[in-house]
Amino acid sequence: MCGIIGRVGDGNALESLLTGLENLEYRGYDSAGIAVQNGSGINVQKRSGKVEELKESIGEPLRGEVGIGHTRWSTHGPPTDANAHPHTDESEDVAVVHNGIIENYAALRERLVANGYAFSSETDTEVIPHLIQYYLDAGLDSETAFRQAIDELEGNYAITAMVSGEHVLYAARQGSPLVVGIEDGEYFLASDVPAFLEYTDSVVYLEDGDVVVVDEDGVEFTDLDGNPITRTSETVDWDPEQAGKGAYDHFMLKEITEQPTSLAQAIEGRIDPTNSRIALSDFEPGTFEEIDTVQFVACGTSYHAALYGSLILNQAGVRSTALLANEYSVSAPPTDDDTLVIAVTQSGETADTLSALRQATAEGARTLTVTNVVGSTAAREADDALFIRAGPEIGVAATKTFSSQAVILTLLGQRIASDRQGEPPADLESLLPELASMPGAIDDVLDDSDAAAIAERYEDSQAYFFIGRGLGYPVALEGALKFKEITYEHAEGFASGELKHGPLALVTPATPVFAIFTGEEDEKTLKNAEEAQTRGAPVVAVCPADHPAVEVADEHLEIADTDPDLAGLLANVQLQLVSYHAADLLDRPIDKPRNLAKSVTVE
Ligand code: G6P
Repeated sequence: MCGIIGRVGDGNALESLLTGLENLEYRGYDSAGIAVQNGSGINVQKRSGKVEELKESIGEPLRGEVGIGHTRWSTHGPPTDANAHPHTDESEDVAVVHNGIIENYAALRERLVANGYAFSSETDTEVIPHLIQYYLDAGLDSETAFRQAIDELEGNYAITAMVSGEHVLYAARQGSPLVVGIEDGEYFLASDVPAFLEYTDSVVYLEDGDVVVVDEDGVEFTDLDGNPITRTSETVDWDPEQAGKGAYDHFMLKEITEQPTSLAQAIEGRIDPTNSRIALSDFEPGTFEEIDTVQFVACGTSYHAALYGSLILNQAGVRSTALLANEYSVSAPPTDDDTLVIAVTQSGETADTLSALRQATAEGARTLTVTNVVGSTAAREADDALFIRAGPEIGVAATKTFSSQAVILTLLGQRIASDRQGEPPADLESLLPELASMPGAIDDVLDDSDAAAIAERYEDSQAYFFIGRGLGYPVALEGALKFKEITYEHAEGFASGELKHGPLALVTPATPVFAIFTGEEDEKTLKNAEEAQTRGAPVVAVCPADHPAVEVADEHLEIADTDPDLAGLLANVQLQLVSYHAADLLDRPIDKPRNLAKSVTVE
């Protein structure tokens, strides 16, 4: 997961390349670089560290109308200056940026070295410029040399290349995302749309096997053999303001506070409280009547949303499991054509999740993806796609997309249950009005939260535990994941009832326990929290104001009294705020936690 940007057009490319890199930094931020074409050939500037550092280190303003840039999340070779992209051949005639993994790079490198090509990095990527140069040296024109080189690569890639003296970019996609942005006389290539949203909202999503040649006259779309193919542009409705940080110190805080809007967008037109109906118009009535079992596959935060969706389905009487996508290849339960496999993925590009999705397809299951990104690989490969409409999420730690995923999975679960049973589940009538009031309930949490004070009070703790039961359990896992991701402190989530089966040994006065109450056997969760409290742990109850836990707990984070299917989502907003403020007190780089990337496109 790296970020690629390329630009061809009139005027200097530098500004749009650097803007693109800043907008893509969520994809990786351990090194960055750019290369621009000017009268004297290709000029490469690259270094380890963030885009900011690259920007500062570019002394003389670089000029050139064509350029490429890259922000890296290391896979082959540590984040050094030499391993930063763009990579070039020895004479800097060819420059390349790449996202993905070239699996046969060792064999290619050996062959190229034997032919006299000298390497200067430890990356798999560096074979690409040398290979292109190899074919240029053999007398091929640049486009054919690029195609020949691409043809020899095995693995996953999104690649953009340029050749000295040409006003052209060459690009190819196989397994890693790449999009084209089109503006009058100006063209962009990027890993993701926010890279160039300031400049254009007209986008073409490339597919695996596509090769494009871009110059100032336009974009030529072909397959690997050079046969023309048709790709149509779409207008994205994300505005640059939405993708920017606005007045907030961090994208994460901005995205937490956007949840009333993103949830309203997620449910708009999809629920009909007056007639107690779920109006998922993406699916014809009866779409899911033959479904016998549902398997969810996902990673990270999306896995917690998947677990949420799976519990909703089980409670609605539909057999369902949530599986970590990266475990699916070794432990997938049996599937048949009555199995629906739902890939939950914010980006739609997570390699582990795509791999599980492909396995499910190969085994004959029906597939569906719940994703945020229209045009993503998951959306294109699954039989059906349901979009969560959360808008761009830039903070590496997922926030607003979790709540939108969980709500959409709640709707989908109820819809699957309705189709199978031939009638809506009995509790739908009470659920839908509560769902419609969720944006307001989240607003209330955001307005009155005591999360900042609680984060400060427990700043010096040794570890942070999160417990919940039923739908509170995935929320406990998510609360702990958020906390560890951005504070680097030790945090764990447990099913409330499990606390006494081992984790209680860890509990001390220096381990606050956040207990989530969703209205599902709360008396048992309260008992579990008290068991921790008796051993000295401070208890933070996340529950409505008139809940019995308020009397018992040391601290209280308030949520509205709502349907148990939704209470966890309000609790989750409180926990997101606790994590945010705790990380802020520790002065952590909240939007870009160390070692993590927003979108992980390697297995
Ligand atoms: C990475 C991110 C996580 C995210 C996970 C799954 O690990 O750091 O925040 O939850 O990928 O991403 P997806 O795009 O599939 O939801």
